[in-house]
Amino acid sequence: MISSIRIILSLGSFLLLFISSTTAKTSFRPKALVLPVTKDISSSTPQYVTQIKQRTPLVTVNLTVDLGGGYVWVNCQHGYVSSTSKSVACGSAQCSLFGSSSCSGDKVKLCGGFPSNTVTGVSTSGDVRSDVVSVESTDGNSAGRAVTVPKFLFICGSDVVQKGLPKGVTGMAGFGRTKVSLPSQFSSAFSFSRKFAICLSSGTINSKGVIILGDAPYNFGYLNSDISKALNFTPLITNPVSTAPISSLGEPSYEYFIGVKSIVISDKEVPLNKSLLSINKNGVGGTKISTVNPYGILETSIYKAVSKAFVKAVGVKTVSPVSPFGTCFTQHEIGSTQMGPAVPDIKLVLQNGVVWDIIGANSMVQFSNIDVICLGFVDGGSKPKSSQVGFIPMTGDQPTTSITIGGLQLENNLIQVDLARSRLGFRSIFSDHSNCANFNFTSSV
Ligand SMILES: *[C@@H]1O[C@H](CO)[C@@H](O)[C@H](O)[C@H]1NC(C)=O
Ligand SMILES: *[C@@H]1O[C@H](CO)[C@@H](O)[C@H](O)[C@H]1NC(C)=O
Ligand SMILES: *[C@@H]1O[C@H](CO)[C@@H](O)[C@H](O)[C@H]1NC(C)=O
Repeated sequence: MISSIRIILSLGSFLLLFISSTTAKTSFRPKALVLPVTKDISSSTPQYVTQIKQRTPLVTVNLTVDLGGGYVWVNCQHGYVSSTSKSVACGSAQCSLFGSSSCSGDKVKLCGGFPSNTVTGVSTSGDVRSDVVSVESTDGNSAGRAVTVPKFLFICGSDVVQKGLPKGVTGMAGFGRTKVSLPSQFSSAFSFSRKFAICLSSGTINSKGVIILGDAPYNFGYLNSDISKALNFTPLITNPVSTAPISSLGEPSYEYFIGVKSIVISDKEVPLNKSLLSINKNGVGGTKISTVNPYGILETSIYKAVSKAFVKAVGVKTVSPVSPFGTCFTQHEIGSTQMGPAVPDIKLVLQNGVVWDIIGANSMVQFSNIDVICLGFVDGGSKPKSSQVGFIPMTGDQPTTSITIGGLQLENNLIQVDLARSRLGFRSIFSDHSNCANFNFTSSV
């Protein structure tokens, strides 16, 4: 009896060894994952693009990063070939994870969603599917072995919704506050922290920024110090009304909002209509963080007040502006420092008294061919749009947001979203004399 158990046990452990050597990729439980992000400047609106491996056989898929996006969508209309792609049944648990879903098909009802291109504002409908996705793990210092999620959920997009993304980019990766966003699916697949960090590089092809999902030290080559220990924190705020192009009634926004209480330039508070800074019951107002808007967007009265205070503090005459910007100077009259162009910081005083300092590198846009430099915020009008290219409303108007902190403002800052503690961590690693391209992507395996 005992010996037969022993035989089974040893046979079992032999089998286990055998299996684990062939499926090492799935049995290894990572604490954190790493994704590269490159800045694509080939189209009129710069976009931040990440890469995952998907399908069987695995292919590299390029996706525009949408920090406030609710899900991942990929173009299935052209070039989607995979032996492991599965449709999701209507009414299934997987389908219910997508808030606003629908049913389509005659005999077998399939789960459908509404993939939106948040750069252009164009939405369509498409099936929810699952497929294999593979990404690299990390210990926070460098990239490690690849891990696989066998049933990663996404919505099928099409050519029409893909239009407006850079060449070679076939979808968008949403990092928003939903159960089916990219970080949520990975943290539930591997049971790691509902936390991620994003560090966008200002450079293009050869200087990759990084996204780290889960818990890891953040090492950017600065004295080998762990930046996760040196972050400033502010609470995340929930906007009760969806700001997505398509949503169901009563659905909250899955974008990340923070509480800006005042704006200070050269020690002077900028006079603002404070009621624009909070979110009202219709979801209007407040401050959000966006990676699909390359530059910050300010409601028109805030824009005018900030521009006026900034011009006064810079103390140099303005020149005729370069679209889409409205406040520009002669570059050689500004000069530069280690923190970028020599302009006063724009200080966002946050809800808990913590200050987000926007240094010259994050407030100014320079041009390679002209001697002009502009304030990197655009005037969003009295009802700032969610996307720059033009929003085509499908379910009525979205509520408008007073302040959008855009890609330029985020570059070379480490931004941590901690969903479990509902807080946002941030730190300029440029001020630490490092930058987001210093993450070591050389794999240790
Ligand atoms: C994804 O982007 C990389 C880098 O820009 C490019 O080399 C590659 O061709 C793209 N992939 C596809 C499928 O277009
Ligand atoms: C301040 O903004 C609120 C919300 O848009 C508006 O109702 C109010 O009239 C504004 N107040 C002033 C003094 O402009
Ligand atoms: C990057 O990581 C690899 C693998 O861990 C290591 O061999 C290499 O020394 C690291 N490079 C730098 C510059 O730290």
